[in-house]
Amino acid sequence: MLKKTFEYDKNKVISIEQNDCLKFLKSLPSHSVDLIVTDPAYSGMNNKLKLGSGRIVGKYKDKGLNGSKWFSEFEDTEENYKVFLTECRRILKKDTGHIYIMFDSFSLLSLGKLMREYFDVKNIITWDKINMGMGHYFRRRHEFIIFATNGNSRKIKNRKLPDVWRFKRVHRAKYPTQKPVEVFNAMIYASSREGFTVCDPFLGSGSSAIAAIKNKCNFLGCDISKKSIDISSDRVEKYIDKNLDILQKEGSSIVSDTLWG
Ligand SMILES: C[S@@+](CC[C@H](N)C(=O)[O-])C[C@H]1O[C@@H](n2cnc3c(N)ncnc32)[C@H](O)[C@@H]1O
Repeated sequence: MLKKTFEYDKNKVISIEQNDCLKFLKSLPSHSVDLIVTDPAYSGMNNKLKLGSGRIVGKYKDKGLNGSKWFSEFEDTEENYKVFLTECRRILKKDTGHIYIMFDSFSLLSLGKLMREYFDVKNIITWDKINMGMGHYFRRRHEFIIFATNGNSRKIKNRKLPDVWRFKRVHRAKYPTQKPVEVFNAMIYASSREGFTVCDPFLGSGSSAIAAIKNKCNFLGCDISKKSIDISSDRVEKYIDKNLDILQKEGSSIVSDTLWG
């Protein structure tokens, strides 16, 4: 199994491995993680909401190897999702753990409701991507992020932060479904302190890992795709060594200097 570890800022560690999300989460000790931030590859949206002969989420085929998809999707049945949420709750610190999970409009209604069975759901955040994507009726311009806590006690950094976040989507992304670092930065900024351990079991291009470094956190990430591990470890290495993000131009997603609208 491919695994890469990077040290920065003397004693902070970014650890990235190729693995299935459930196997990876099961390998982590109970109550060892302060914060989960993640953007799963839901199969539901793709299977059920087709747009003509194409797919609504990501142009996998264009970017795939030998015409195949770039990556597999997580089988997002309720059964599977419950195992996933059970593991997320087990690894999160009790009372102080925070979790942010991204949802498209399909999975929000089918799986989002399950979050309540495992966590205290505090907000549904809307990420406004500014530019429209595809869609049969109203063209898609947003995604959702459910924010929840593992118990009730720890607050976010301050009370001035809104539940609509405005960041431009990544233009000509090198990894399909690559999210702006700013989206993960908003989650980690609000819910972490220096030295916290952040986990993302659907790492993709590594945007969450870059955001963890910006917030001086430790990071544990995995993805089932080797391509993801190759791309994200190269990205993390260059970011640590040269302060250079090779997949996203600094500030390219920011639309306003107010937090975050
Ligand atoms: C929506 S993408 C994540 C994109 C990422 N947030 C970014 O900004 O680049 C979802 C990722 O989940 C991965 N994936 C799919 N099934 C998985 C599984 N069973 N375990 C772990 N990762 C999986 C895919 O390879 C893909 O990279």
